[in-house]
Amino acid sequence: MNITVLREVRPGETRVALAPESCAKLVKAGYSVSVETGAGVTAFYDDDAYREVGVTIGTDVAAMTAGSDIVVKVRPPVMEEGRDEIGFMRPGAVLLGSLMPLRYLDVMEALAARGVTSFSTDAIPRTTRAQSMDTLSSMANLTGYRGVLLAAAALPKYFPMLMTAAGTVLPAKVFVIGAAVAGLQAIATARRLGANVVATDVRPEVKEQIESVGAKYVGIELKESAVAGGGYARELSEEDKARQRELLADQCAASDVVITTALIGGVFAPKLINADIVRRMRPGSIIVDLGADGGGNCELSKLGETIVEKGVTIVAPLNLPASMPTHASLLFSRNLTAFLLAYTRDNAFYLDMEDDIQKGAIITHEGTVVHARTLEAIRKKSEG
Ligand code: NAI
Repeated sequence: MNITVLREVRPGETRVALAPESCAKLVKAGYSVSVETGAGVTAFYDDDAYREVGVTIGTDVAAMTAGSDIVVKVRPPVMEEGRDEIGFMRPGAVLLGSLMPLRYLDVMEALAARGVTSFSTDAIPRTTRAQSMDTLSSMANLTGYRGVLLAAAALPKYFPMLMTAAGTVLPAKVFVIGAAVAGLQAIATARRLGANVVATDVRPEVKEQIESVGAKYVGIELKESAVAGGGYARELSEEDKARQRELLADQCAASDVVITTALIGGVFAPKLINADIVRRMRPGSIIVDLGADGGGNCELSKLGETIVEKGVTIVAPLNLPASMPTHASLLFSRNLTAFLLAYTRDNAFYLDMEDDIQKGAIITHEGTVVHARTLEAIRKKSEG
């Protein structure tokens, strides 16, 4: 069975779906692996690094894709003039990647129409068994880390307390909103840099996790639970939102750095920081909006840009993992490989619709969209 790795062509994407290390494992497991020429270059894996582990380098994308049983990608496939990655695939072939089905409904419909069996690593259940396959966690981890570095670089102050010959400076105060994978990594990174960190979330079980990585927890008693199941949060009621806004306003006003990582259902960013909250912050303070990929947690964020509003710098980076492509690709690649090898028998990948991981991650199969949340989103879209 053969696997093809396509070059990522979406703007700003620098990652590659399989690093040479993973290709070596897949070759050893009996797959033949082809990589589009230059696919790893932006992540600093050149064609020779792939050749050395037994990979074939190809230049004819259409032919490579058409001849493959499994296509692996980081981002959803593109349908462009001269590069219709879905049209190149043969019906019945498997596509594996971070397809973000809820954000790319048209792509999911095109995959179904082409008869592709697609698996999205974003939809893999967050279970212990699936942990090694979970690209959301690997990428969120990088995002949390990198977000703090952006904040530290933009802050006109030190992060740590420093005792110098010129006297002592106090540590920066960092406030982290949302404390799942990205938020906990942001807390840990800010702590390592020496900041004092306070964090909040709407899921009560997170308090202990926040404290375990060295931050102080702050929160409000919610009138209605925000727990949506599967570790995800739902949007707060209007009353709870108003009460949370007061807490956020006070904490933001007292902080040098605010890092936001809140998502609803793992996909969409609730608007938590409004213009009034920003106006109450001290000039020179920084907001890093790590919810930018989901639309942004701050209502003033300009997605993908850095702006200054009344002395407050608001950084809203998109696709932060692409700013660390070597490790982002390596981890992503290990996640994909864990998925593929878990379902490899007699040198071939097999489908198992009774398996909870495959059942959770499958988006399109045999001509239809089969993923319930994607189907629901398509239905809503068609109803306008
Ligand atoms: P996420 O990116 O979906 O959400 C980020 C955080 O934002 C969540 O903690 C959420 O409660 C919080 N949030 C939402 N609205 C908020 C608001 N108004 N104010 C403050 N915070 C708000 O989370 P991620 O990183 O995708 O993790 C989702 C869940 O999956 C978590 O419970 C995590 O512990 C769990 N998980 C489980 C794994 C496993 O067992 N294999 C692996 C990774 C994560």
